[in-house]
Amino acid sequence: MIPLIEFQNVYKIYPMGDEIVKAVDGISMKIYKGEFVAIVGQSGSGKSTCMNIIGCLDVPTSGEYFLDGQDVSQMDDDELATIRNEKLGFIFQQYNLLTKINVLENVEMSLMYAGVGKKEREEKSKIALEKVGLIDKIKNLPTQLSGGQQQRVSIARALVGDPSVILADEPTGALDSKTGKEVLRLLKTLHQDGNTIVLITHDNSIAKQAQRIVRLADGKIMYDGPSDGKDAVITADDEEEEDI
Ligand SMILES: Nc1ncnc2c1ncn2[C@@H]1O[C@H](COP(=O)(O)OP(=O)(O)OP(=O)(O)O)[C@@H](O)[C@H]1O
Ligand SMILES: [Mg+2]
Repeated sequence: MIPLIEFQNVYKIYPMGDEIVKAVDGISMKIYKGEFVAIVGQSGSGKSTCMNIIGCLDVPTSGEYFLDGQDVSQMDDDELATIRNEKLGFIFQQYNLLTKINVLENVEMSLMYAGVGKKEREEKSKIALEKVGLIDKIKNLPTQLSGGQQQRVSIARALVGDPSVILADEPTGALDSKTGKEVLRLLKTLHQDGNTIVLITHDNSIAKQAQRIVRLADGKIMYDGPSDGKDAVITADDEEEEDI
């Protein structure tokens, strides 16, 4: 079986004055269809940079990235936009919903770019909103929803195009812990339904809910294995440092 996501010695290097920053410092990893992976690590460890590459929002400085067997590392912006639309669903910390259009239209938008006709857009969007438990809110504006509901709309939007991978960058970061747990429960259900999920989080209790944890430090993989492994999450000492 070919991996859905494969990094081969990926680097992302930024010039910083006379120096360079290796935001991603030689990462190799494989993620297969149906996995639920949490990427964890301290602030500045390279999580977002990694996620931007996985999400085809950015390309590596060197190394190869294969998404579903396709070499993404050399693609130009147009090709990246196409592959993002076909293969990826994004969930962001701040939901990123359009505030002037209703819930249903927000979900439909993501199919519009894919050139799906009006009737099919509406049908598929309603199915996605049903899945996240919001079928009774489809005519509401996002501002008329709670934070947790808004995040569920964004999950429906990520789902509706039937992506190969759902990428979630701190999806519970803006929510209180109870609502965050509900959103996480929903992601777990989607995983059980066969979706592949890659999640970034600072929160150990959230990361532990994934099947597999990839822990980064200084752009390198420090741990890659089951989420209940001994070195899966950062220690209390590391967390204290982070709180400064
Ligand atoms: N555009 C850029 N130019 C220069 N340096 C960058 C750039 N983007 C990221 N970096 C550096 O790369 C490193 C990794 O950054 P990244 O944003 O991936 O960290 P992170 O793990 O997502 O952190 P956080 O938890 O704070 O979001 C950091 O040292 C950061 O300063
Ligand atoms: Mg980040």
